[in-house]
Amino acid sequence: MARILITSALPYINGIKHLGNLVGSQLPSDAYARYMRLRGHEVMYICATDEHGTPAELAAAKADKPVDEFCKDMWQVQKDIADGFRLSFDYFGRSSSQRNRDLTQHLATKLGEAGLIEEVSEKQIYSITDGRYLPDRYIEGTCPNCGDDKARGDQCENCTKQLDPTDLINPRSAISGSTDLEVRETKHLYLRQSVMREKLDKWIDSQVGWPILTTSIAKKWLHDGDGLRDRGITRDLDWGVPVQYEGAPWSGMDGKVFYVWFDAPIEYIAATAEWADANGLDDSAWESWWRTDKGADDVHYVQFMGKDNVPFHTLGFPATLMGSGEPWKLVDFIKSYNWLTYEGGKFSTSQGRGIFMNQALEIMPSDYWRWWLLSNAPESSDSDFTWESFQAGVNKDLADVLGNFVSRVTKFCRGKFGEAVPEGGTYGEAEATVTSEIAKRLAAYQSHMESIELRKATADLRAIWVAGNEYLQAAAPWTVYKQDPAAAAATVRFALNLIRLYGVLSAPFIPDAAAKILDAMGASDAAWPDDLDAALSAMPIGQAFTVPEVLFAKISDDTRVELEERFAGAS
Ligand code: 2FM
Ligand code: ZN
Repeated sequence: MARILITSALPYINGIKHLGNLVGSQLPSDAYARYMRLRGHEVMYICATDEHGTPAELAAAKADKPVDEFCKDMWQVQKDIADGFRLSFDYFGRSSSQRNRDLTQHLATKLGEAGLIEEVSEKQIYSITDGRYLPDRYIEGTCPNCGDDKARGDQCENCTKQLDPTDLINPRSAISGSTDLEVRETKHLYLRQSVMREKLDKWIDSQVGWPILTTSIAKKWLHDGDGLRDRGITRDLDWGVPVQYEGAPWSGMDGKVFYVWFDAPIEYIAATAEWADANGLDDSAWESWWRTDKGADDVHYVQFMGKDNVPFHTLGFPATLMGSGEPWKLVDFIKSYNWLTYEGGKFSTSQGRGIFMNQALEIMPSDYWRWWLLSNAPESSDSDFTWESFQAGVNKDLADVLGNFVSRVTKFCRGKFGEAVPEGGTYGEAEATVTSEIAKRLAAYQSHMESIELRKATADLRAIWVAGNEYLQAAAPWTVYKQDPAAAAATVRFALNLIRLYGVLSAPFIPDAAAKILDAMGASDAAWPDDLDAALSAMPIGQAFTVPEVLFAKISDDTRVELEERFAGAS
């Protein structure tokens, strides 16, 4: 049994996420966590809301709420949605927790003591009208790189270039729109990442089998000279982890907080500490996941994220942990995702284009989304959500292949033999053939889950469902029954066992349907089929079952058209 630590990128607190965000971190990490638990491993699966920084402050101001109240409310909203999608976090924390404040300040102290933090006097934009500095998203203007006029002080979303507020052309305040701005000198802390370049480079080179998407982004940042310059890790904001605290190795930093990207990944650790607190456990419980001197040396740590998050996880966060000089557990595998587009274009919050997580759950059960998103995950390139493809995925894969199989077998058995596994007949060539086909597909499924190629794993799972359908179609118990009821009983007995097997194998992707299947089959356990033959005789003659309610309802053309129109956006 291995110990597997899994973290999903932390969603910003400022709003409800769309399906592209979901498929890039939370959903694949959940399928992976569920699979690893099913295989008997000890899993710690962590997520949290990312609550600091300008996005939170701006969204709170828009909602006309104090920022702490806004964050508390939005955490609950995000938690409820996560539950709706059946995301099985061991803990869903908050980056504004006391644990994160303490740990962020502790790590900053260690970095300071190691000479890796520098005090820099730098030029910041000050708004006379607003009476405050304008860091990051508080300022907008024209991108010096691509000319887009909605670039923000931290990044241009159009060309993804990282920016400083003073880089912007024609800057304006995002709060008031004022252009009455001036440049003032103020002191900030910089993390001296550049002195760690070689160490980080070697560390990345030593990783085996990381996705090309992950390593190529990390390498680009390391060698283009842009990413690994020293970075300011403090901001002139009210909301965040205070930079001036008792024992801080610097002074004169009152009124400043750490930059959101400094404290957010630290929350992966702090949320595990929050988990221990919530469960009445002492520090050794969370430290055994995170401190290699306290048991974490045997932990396998996997992170999930969209590709825009890769630089912070391959360089910034490891620099923090390595630079502290303390024995923190570093990530073993970073799974990153490309973009999901919506009907050929971008998801847009402002234009109401695309589907947001709360809307998705109002329209269809979470399994439908989970299945489509994971079977079309943007793993090797971007992928496009279309309602037509969604309809096809639900109707064909879920309703026709899996749902129909379950329904046909259970109803036929109930009609001819009653609601218990029937006796009679013996297994022969057909059962042996389908078992060996499933064994082959199962090996591929397992191997793709291990390598976190979830899209391929869904294709294997689907092939396992298809194999059962083909077996049933060829065996045709409804015809055979007329001449040889015993032979039909053997087919049905085998097929009922297949249904139970499908309940086990499908759980990482469609947990609700899987639970219904297992419940209907009266399965007392959902153990992984390490021995396939044994798993296919787990339901003995006489075991009672019930016919489950319809597992998946088909999406009609009318519904599809209606949804296409509803989510097309203002444009
Ligand atoms: O891109 C985002 O949505 C960030 N909130 C991700 C943070 S991941 C981690 F570092 F906290
Ligand atoms: Zn740009």
